[in-house]
Amino acid sequence: MTNKATLNTSLPLPEGLFKGHYQSGITDPRWPKEPPAEFDPKAILDIINERIGAGRLREEDADILSLEDVRNSYTSDYSGRISKQKNISIMRANCLLKKREDLQNLLKTITEFASEEIRRIPSVKHLRILEAIPDSYRVTISLGIGATLFTTLDGFDRYGISHHKPRYLKPMPSFLGDSEELDPSASASDFIFLISSDHPYINVAIVRFFAEYLNKRFSKNYGFKGKAVEFLGVEEGFQRKDTREFLGFDDGIDNISMREDELERLVYITQVDNEPDWCINGTYLVYRKIRERMPDWEKLTVVNQEAMIGRDKETGKPLSRQVTGPKGKTPVYSDSKDPADGALNSHIRKVQPRRNSEDLFGIDDLDRRFLRRPYPFFDGLDESGNSINGLQFLAFMKSIQQQFEHVVNMWQLNPDFPVQGAGIDALYANNILETLDGGYYFCPPGLASPKDYFASGLFRE
Ligand code: HEM
Repeated sequence: MTNKATLNTSLPLPEGLFKGHYQSGITDPRWPKEPPAEFDPKAILDIINERIGAGRLREEDADILSLEDVRNSYTSDYSGRISKQKNISIMRANCLLKKREDLQNLLKTITEFASEEIRRIPSVKHLRILEAIPDSYRVTISLGIGATLFTTLDGFDRYGISHHKPRYLKPMPSFLGDSEELDPSASASDFIFLISSDHPYINVAIVRFFAEYLNKRFSKNYGFKGKAVEFLGVEEGFQRKDTREFLGFDDGIDNISMREDELERLVYITQVDNEPDWCINGTYLVYRKIRERMPDWEKLTVVNQEAMIGRDKETGKPLSRQVTGPKGKTPVYSDSKDPADGALNSHIRKVQPRRNSEDLFGIDDLDRRFLRRPYPFFDGLDESGNSINGLQFLAFMKSIQQQFEHVVNMWQLNPDFPVQGAGIDALYANNILETLDGGYYFCPPGLASPKDYFASGLFRE
């Protein structure tokens, strides 16, 4: 790989902490809208296969593909799509402080920490000879806050900020398919940190840094005695180059596009959303840690697996009669109750019926979509020797109730949707999936200036 376009330098960078209205690590980094100006098809194939490798273009096809074919494929599949970093660490924490000013100062310290890490230039000191020097490890640290920061589970307004609580923020409820051990109120936390980068060691370093020094720096800066934050543990996730997850399917084919109008309609809070003002340009986060039972899945034939997902395993195409809609996306099904377009209990038909008219609430099905930014995880083996692996499901949206909860309760886990007796999502019906953990959070907007700090709007009266 000699073309500059294939080097690390060409990876799209996250938006800076102070650039744009949104927190970094949610809808960025993104692939550039246009492929690099000078390229040959082989170089782009290398990028696609090496970096994101969705496999829709094949190495052996390189000679017969025209520049135009490759450019079109880039434009339909990658242009503007999120280019997730390779590793994520999900860290949760509770706030032990009692006073409102202390919380305010803690948020300043967290911002200081996060911005130092996001802006840190990779050190060349420890690279081995001939090792490429990365321009950036693309570090992003996104902060989410839980309902318990506003009021305790028994309703106490801890810091006098409950009147600023985002409207839909609440502790996550239980759902069908949850593990017996999952107690959502015990999993609820005041903070969640999503730490992403392209190197597992960078993640480790940042997690350790937070755990070991955040309390110390807070004490030093503000003369506080005792611990401000209690860390509750860390979850890890990684991304495969081809974006396939453990079930072997490419996850993320049909996701929200990064067009500003779509982001404002479905992901980020705007003026029209009737939320407290400080929430504008923020977004809700639903986190679910979902185990995938591999022995049960691997017993199934590929045909059965495809019927459960609703897509062809190799190509990712939907099993519907018409396979592509506008811009290469899944088509709106001509009849949402017709199994000729894929089993009615298949995952993609249960989570997005794509009906061609509005529902009883006057909402189009496609307006219930949310931005998915999932990462597979592997946690070792259980006591029977089975692997504990699955998906760290992370989804961003402007209303948990109208998007995630409507999708799950009204469609995915409703046995009588879209027709009586259709059954719940086949992945849950066959015990392939089991939710182990999770929570609901609100991610505040990006910083307005270098002096601003996360969630500063909470302290404006
Ligand atoms: C381990 C758990 C899960 C796995 C392995 C999984 C896998 C997949 C796959 C392979 C696709 C098709 C590719 C694509 O369109 O991106 C898909 C689509 C989708 N999934 Fe999941 N998923 C999981 C959990 C969930 C959950 C909990 C939800 C929330 C309700 C969800 C919502 C969606 C949505 C909305 C789509 C897009 C459907 C469309 O637009 O047609 N998934 N998922």
